[in-house]
Amino acid sequence: MRIAILGLGYVGTTTAACLVRDGHEVVGIDINPDKVRMIGEGRSPVVEPGVEGLLQEGVAAGRVRSAGAIEGLVAGLDMVIVCVGTPSRADGKLNLTHLLESTRQLGAALRERDPAKAPLLLVFRSTMPPGTMERLVLPTLETAAGEGPGGRYEAAFNPEFLRESTAVKDYFSPPKIVLGERHPGATKRLGGVYDALDAPFFEVGYGVAEMVKFVDNSFHALKVAFANEVGRISLSKGIDPQAVADLFLADTKLNISPYYLRPGGPFGGSCLPKDLSAMLSLARDGGLAVPVLNGAKESNALHLAWFAQKIKARCPAPGPLLLLGLSFKAGTDDLRNSPLLDLAELLLEAGYDLRVHDPDLDPARLVGVNFALGAEHQDLLRQRMTDDVEAAAKGARLAVLGKPMPAALKRLPADLPVLDMNRLGPSLA
Ligand SMILES: NC(=O)c1ccc[n+]([C@@H]2O[C@H](COP(=O)([O-])OP(=O)(O)OC[C@H]3O[C@@H](n4cnc5c(N)ncnc54)[C@H](O)[C@@H]3O)[C@@H](O)[C@H]2O)c1
Repeated sequence: MRIAILGLGYVGTTTAACLVRDGHEVVGIDINPDKVRMIGEGRSPVVEPGVEGLLQEGVAAGRVRSAGAIEGLVAGLDMVIVCVGTPSRADGKLNLTHLLESTRQLGAALRERDPAKAPLLLVFRSTMPPGTMERLVLPTLETAAGEGPGGRYEAAFNPEFLRESTAVKDYFSPPKIVLGERHPGATKRLGGVYDALDAPFFEVGYGVAEMVKFVDNSFHALKVAFANEVGRISLSKGIDPQAVADLFLADTKLNISPYYLRPGGPFGGSCLPKDLSAMLSLARDGGLAVPVLNGAKESNALHLAWFAQKIKARCPAPGPLLLLGLSFKAGTDDLRNSPLLDLAELLLEAGYDLRVHDPDLDPARLVGVNFALGAEHQDLLRQRMTDDVEAAAKGARLAVLGKPMPAALKRLPADLPVLDMNRLGPSLA
């Protein structure tokens, strides 16, 4: 393919070098004349292992050119990849000035394109906040080109997951390829430009593709901060942090796994809240500030409060309201630190006509700590709980599904709205 790269920084230069290695013809474009000259001479403007060698081979093979602007080039291209910088502003938002200016230049240049030719594929790799493609990039292109996508051009957002210093390796072996498009298949997998790469390929809407880039990097940052906090606590107790990390990382069932990573309900039960609190007390013993671990506790409480707000907005007091579930998870009657118990008390305090159904829980059979908890929450367990979910649902304005309960769900009236706490989804937006 004949491909132009707009923006010759770390991403653009690496992408250019890797595309050349794959046999494509590349023209590198930048507003910085020094970078333009260097790429034209097969020299890399950035320090990145392997890049300069690939560029030199490309120049020798006549497959690398460079230019100061896109103007006059689009007629002979199959694809343009936008890799301009989107640095942080003082307020933490991204500065989209270069992105929108290069998009405008690209749109204006599109007017030169023969409408009878296949649409030029415009691939945006610069990191941008969710909503940017729909609300800024496409309108800017449309205004500058004088027409929307689908004719002279088609536009995709294709986030870049490479890491500096291993960028070439990451390009050829990415963790995943994500393609945000106007509709699935709109760019025919970017004309097959990544077909030789062995990586899972996802075709999604623009918003999901834009968001996942932020989610991935936020998670990586969270992992580093978490590892350092637990390392500091371990050291303060005279324990080797690397030995702890070895064991922690060896657990690929619960720790390094998709487990606990689906957006859903708050955590609770007899272990997570208790041991997190104990861990925080270890940090206090050592005089250590651990805002990430502290934040997990605070975030969990805020998450429950957020659900309560959603419920109140959907179904103001007094309801009636049906809560499905009271113990902390399906298959147990354990009420210790159950977020559903907290939620139920909160709703009662707010004046709801609350009915509760939980097939895992028999108030008459509570023993030990559960019995003591039952005594504390007598009104809830004695007056509000029922085995008859159909009767409880009668007249209810909303059912709140606190934990998976397929049998009970089947018995609800078809027109009763259900707010599902187990899986954040459009019903909670
Ligand atoms: N650096 C990374 O490791 C990395 C990884 C993944 C994603 N990203 C994202 O990729 C994008 C590029 O990052 P980078 O580190 O390569 O940036 P960079 O600042 O190194 O390079 C950006 C280049 O764009 C050029 N430019 C600006 N306006 C232009 C225009 N109108 N036309 C042509 N060129 C123009 C600049 O002169 C500069 O050379 C950013 O959005 C960044 O967040 C970066």
